[in-house]
Amino acid sequence: MSGVQLKDIRKSFGALEIIKGIDLDIQPGEFVVFVGPSGCGKSTLLRMIAGLEDVTSGVLNIGGKDVTYADPSKRGIAMVFQSYALYPHMTVAENIGFGLSLAGRPKVEIEAKVRAAAESLQLIHLLDRKPKALSGGQRQRVAIGRAIVRNPDVFLFDEPLSNLDASLRSQMRLEITDLHKKLGATMIYVTHDQVEAMTMADKIVVLKDGRVEQVGSPMDLYNKPATPFVASFIGSPKMNLYSGVAAEGLGCKTYGIRPEDLTLSFEKGRWNGRIRHVERLGADALVYLKVEGLGDMVARTLGGAKFQPGNIVWAEPDATKEHRFDL
Ligand SMILES: Nc1ncnc2c1ncn2[C@@H]1O[C@H](COP(=O)(O)OP(=O)(O)O)[C@@H](O)[C@H]1O
Ligand SMILES: [Mg+2]
Repeated sequence: MSGVQLKDIRKSFGALEIIKGIDLDIQPGEFVVFVGPSGCGKSTLLRMIAGLEDVTSGVLNIGGKDVTYADPSKRGIAMVFQSYALYPHMTVAENIGFGLSLAGRPKVEIEAKVRAAAESLQLIHLLDRKPKALSGGQRQRVAIGRAIVRNPDVFLFDEPLSNLDASLRSQMRLEITDLHKKLGATMIYVTHDQVEAMTMADKIVVLKDGRVEQVGSPMDLYNKPATPFVASFIGSPKMNLYSGVAAEGLGCKTYGIRPEDLTLSFEKGRWNGRIRHVERLGADALVYLKVEGLGDMVARTLGGAKFQPGNIVWAEPDATKEHRFDL
């Protein structure tokens, strides 16, 4: 197991600085998720850790060794991409073992490692198939298998589930989390999907515009977002955020309250508003209000609640769950 340290890592393409000084300390065996909107620099940062992209300045340590300028093959890492890039003419077993064959490892060793990887990924019954006879989820598991047989100290994943449909994605989330527990390896996982970040990470690194916005456990970021950006990025539906005159009235520069931290009633509350729309999801319902002096607001209520579009209702925030930002 290896930890990974980034010290003031920067990257410019031409005159344009894309990664603007990142410091991170990733512990051995930790599952760290880099999350942020498209274009914020997640892939560039991961590719620098992998050695697929040169570092413009800064220092990168893996397993306590300075690998800033080391060849990718000398870093003890394996990377899994969004596109699985399997060889279509090879079987699952050959695809998983390809790197080992290329390295000239003995056949017995390759077979044993491929079997062990296939077992941990539930691919044993598919070892003789070609990729075209596999589902998207199975193909992605083969790509992960190819990484496992290399026995890396650090796994790097770049949006590996983005090509899968929703139900498969949630299944693969569990499988990758299980795999992490089984292998105990350090994993760095890049995604733009806050659900993946919340459900998989030991530690989330929120990136914005080439900088670290906040680092913390999923529940830390949910309970104590440091900035309105983190507040709006973590949690679904998004936190209600108000700035300007409305926020000043509430004693801050930006005020936030999550939909699940509001209680609606016909009797009393802090804010009065008209219901524009109700989304019934089953167990709960999302109520969209127009609140005088604030604007749009979303509240989460029980699915069976009697609120209807057109109703005038009161919204009461849980006073222990209010967020006030002074940035
Ligand atoms: N080889 C490159 N040359 C120039 N600009 C690049 C290159 N690779 C990435 N970029 C730019 O760097 C920024 C971050 O890209 P990327 O790391 O792919 O973001 P993300 O993975 O978060 O979506 C984007 O603005 C992108 O256009
Ligand atoms: Mg990317």
